[in-house]
Amino acid sequence: MSAIRKPAVSVCFICLGNICRSPTAEGVFGHMVGLAGLREVIAVDSAGTGAWHKGELADKRAREEAARRGIELRSVARQVVRQDFERHDLLLAMDGNNVADLQALARSDAERAKIRLFRSFDPLSPSEAEVPDPYYGGPEGFARVFDLCTAASKGLLAHIRKTHGV
Ligand code: 4NP
Repeated sequence: MSAIRKPAVSVCFICLGNICRSPTAEGVFGHMVGLAGLREVIAVDSAGTGAWHKGELADKRAREEAARRGIELRSVARQVVRQDFERHDLLLAMDGNNVADLQALARSDAERAKIRLFRSFDPLSPSEAEVPDPYYGGPEGFARVFDLCTAASKGLLAHIRKTHGV
């Protein structure tokens, strides 16, 4: 009988609606984690600060862009809950508004320390760089979100491997 081990690290990607940016980040990073053989070690999740799209699949445009790149987005939208601060090691915000909304929910310095801008893990991105909201724009915005998530995911995975020795 093999023991079921809790993942060593747990990350949650956060945007506003949980239908465009954070599902893309979850899909891209989760794919990389799988390729690295770290599925049992790194747990990957996503949520939105707003509840409007609760229960929905990711936006069709986000799913189509990901599918073009060989990744299936399967997440179902949900709103951030208090337990996210306990369950996860990193809450990876797409933009400054997401950071501010998460800061307002945090109850301790330890919880606040878990909140980071996702792109801060991309060594080539300027400081305070955001993943811009593509919802009201055209398909090129979704392609850019995918590219930004790919670059930041590489940096995030390298960071976790280094800090957790995996
Ligand atoms: P997301 O994009 O935060 O990347 O999921 C949005 C999705 C929906 C809305 C805004 C942003 N909305 O206003 O409904």
